[in-house]
Amino acid sequence: MNLSGPEDPFSEADTPVDLEEVDSLEAIVIIDNELDPLSPPAPDTVQLAGNLGTIGMGSTHNLTDRGEACKELRLGDVCCAAHGLSILVTATKGDQKHTILFDAGPEEEAWERNVKRLRPDIASIEVVQLSHWHRDHSGGLPRAIRMIKDAKQAESRSEDLVVDLHPDRPSYRGIALPEHIISLEADPTFEEMESAGAVVDKRSEPHTVLDNFFLVSGEIPRVTPYETGLRNAVRYDPHEKEWFSDEAIQDERALFCNLKGLVVFTACSHAGVVNATKHAVHLTGGTVPVHAVVGGFHLATSDADQVETTVKDLKRLDPAVIMPGHCTGWRAKFAIEKHMPGSMVPCTVGSRITF
Ligand SMILES: [Fe+2]
Repeated sequence: MNLSGPEDPFSEADTPVDLEEVDSLEAIVIIDNELDPLSPPAPDTVQLAGNLGTIGMGSTHNLTDRGEACKELRLGDVCCAAHGLSILVTATKGDQKHTILFDAGPEEEAWERNVKRLRPDIASIEVVQLSHWHRDHSGGLPRAIRMIKDAKQAESRSEDLVVDLHPDRPSYRGIALPEHIISLEADPTFEEMESAGAVVDKRSEPHTVLDNFFLVSGEIPRVTPYETGLRNAVRYDPHEKEWFSDEAIQDERALFCNLKGLVVFTACSHAGVVNATKHAVHLTGGTVPVHAVVGGFHLATSDADQVETTVKDLKRLDPAVIMPGHCTGWRAKFAIEKHMPGSMVPCTVGSRITF
């Protein structure tokens, strides 16, 4: 059965990507727009830690002065939300383990603060993938690279830290409003990342990394008629000294794993969450089912029709788990819960998810 659908047929000329099926997969949400350390996940979806109970259990503030209470839960140990996304993904197969960082959020302070609170094993990060050139995903990169390199050095680990990104870095991106253009801050430069200690690897084609545990998508084909990019997006050309339309955000790339089915990490879905998911199915031969879709679905500013159409097509792809976060927006989360009850686990900051 071909699961990718009529718009994206898998022909005999295509060779399926050799993506390893791993034994276990863990994701730690270092940055997301939303914080919710209380809600338990829907039954039979994922195992979720990072709630107030687990933060209290892991507290290093031991007590001897309050009767039976042995630890103090400090709210200063809870992560802070920020507009952006950063997810640490670790896959294990047999005695092999690999870790990739998917984006680094909007600002260095946010990444550092949450990493200090979550205390994940950042020395084990081997590759950092930047999903696309937008500051809410790239802004934390230089300090993240420095902190990862320092953590490696503290463990006498000399291996490279690869930053895997699309080569087409715009000077500036922005949004054209009716009256004027709002520019975003520039993304970190290749040189900034290199001087922070990273090996920059520029890629626009699909490729696997880390013993084929992960598949980085390359540019995502736009096969649905309704996922048409980011409305009013523009980029600045410093040579022409002019802004040009850039709605496709063609450089966006997703991250795929295979754990009893495809796990799709899509950071902002300017390419479309359905397109990204169909692309994962397509690249792997059209027969691997979808297990989970995670990340920003960029439906917060979409109209009701677009939200309904997207959610209905996501439902057709039949993921067991759906983890909307970042730019998905509450209306789309509500629609997901309505159309796909029992499958949603909101992707909130500080969550430690075992799929
Ligand atoms: Fe974003």
